[in-house]
Amino acid sequence: MSERARGEEAAAGKAVAPGAAAVRGTRDILPPESSRWQWVEGVARRVCERYGYREIRTPIFEAATVFTRGIGEATDIVEKEMYLFRDRAGRELALRPEGTAGVVRAFLEHKLYAGPLPVKLFYLGPMFRYERPQAGRYRQFEQFGVEAFGSADPAIDAEIISLGIAFLEAVGLDRWELRLNSIGCPTCRAAYREMLVTELSPRRQELCRSCEQRLERNPLRILDCKEPGCQLLVEPLPGLESYLCSDCRAHWETVQHYLGELGISYRKYPRLVRGLDYYTRTVFELVGTGLGSQDALLGGGRYDGLVEAMGGPSVPGIGFAAGLDRLLMSLAGGDGLPPAAAATDVYVARAGEVPMGAVLQLAERLRRAGIRTELELAGRSLKAQLKVADRLGARFVVIAGEAEWARGLVTLRRMADGLQEEVARTEVPGRLSELISET
Ligand code: HAM
Repeated sequence: MSERARGEEAAAGKAVAPGAAAVRGTRDILPPESSRWQWVEGVARRVCERYGYREIRTPIFEAATVFTRGIGEATDIVEKEMYLFRDRAGRELALRPEGTAGVVRAFLEHKLYAGPLPVKLFYLGPMFRYERPQAGRYRQFEQFGVEAFGSADPAIDAEIISLGIAFLEAVGLDRWELRLNSIGCPTCRAAYREMLVTELSPRRQELCRSCEQRLERNPLRILDCKEPGCQLLVEPLPGLESYLCSDCRAHWETVQHYLGELGISYRKYPRLVRGLDYYTRTVFELVGTGLGSQDALLGGGRYDGLVEAMGGPSVPGIGFAAGLDRLLMSLAGGDGLPPAAAATDVYVARAGEVPMGAVLQLAERLRRAGIRTELELAGRSLKAQLKVADRLGARFVVIAGEAEWARGLVTLRRMADGLQEEVARTEVPGRLSELISET
């Protein structure tokens, strides 16, 4: 670690011993936070099921060319943010910075285009970008994404946007803004790009350093540059909408019409171009409002030329990805999150000289009966054990006390009101199942 990085970590109050802390921009998800992750992933799966999207799992690393060709050489992701490495055989590989390019690679490799279309897929998993870490921005982050291949119909644009909104609402985020734009096809974009270069070249010095380079390589990206100077320059220029060819215009209008039919409100964002090169026509972002965060929680769009550009047949595609780290962070401020689930149903407490082997067996029988069971393993007093059971959210405690145990019995204690009953050891799983299903 460099001295500067060490200083930054120290300033952030982190342990600085090499190897003693997670790498900058990464983090551990500990319980009970991990149960919130399971919950949000479960919501994503259920929403996808309703819309007919099925899970795909692609590798976390791919040949680097999958991304350089897929996302585009002149994008920030490819130029500055990829984790590139060579394996021991000298292959040039990259940790996936996003999901779409890998899914397209899999779609081609397994010839999914030869089956019934559209092919509708979703994924959940970590992505990696060497970005400057800050709140809600990490170097390893989690995305939930969907991709649909084989339909150019504007109806699927509306459907997929609706899926994204259904997901946000299902996790309890009901204040959002849908930002929508069309960036047309390569034909309409060429004319627009030319206009941008003609208008901006004479004022090149007023652009930020990155945009000066973008002017040569990727002028469209100047549109969504956050620098006030650049914004001022592009403000008076016409949006892409007025440059759309007739096919792209018809598509754009029909998407808006269908969104209207679905009762989905949106705001046209003529400067929304998104940071990946594969997009055509519809692009969109969903931004949470009312939570103080203005960052996109979810972004996506159509990519009708990508499958072909990656060596396949001409198959249109559309998709989006949601950043789950950001989403959970914005929910943490609201009341959308479910309470962290209780860690157990039953706590088996042990008091006095009760043989540990037999208590282990009892706990094992409960677990085999499908009951979440924790067992005292630290030799605490009964009072302390009851406290632990309470902290874990156990609804019942099985007290294996020396005297009852000798008579083949244990005590069951209902934590809510302290009510106790004695039960034969052999009857414990059956009686607890009964009690649990009653509450
Ligand atoms: P993206 O806009 O680059 O699009 O990323 C999608 C979402 O991932 C963002 O809206 C954000 O919530 C989250 N995200 C991105 N970078 C970070 C980061 N460093 N830390 C935390 N969260 C982050 C894509 O990745 C496209 N593949 C989406 C897509 C799918 N388009 C078509 N199909």
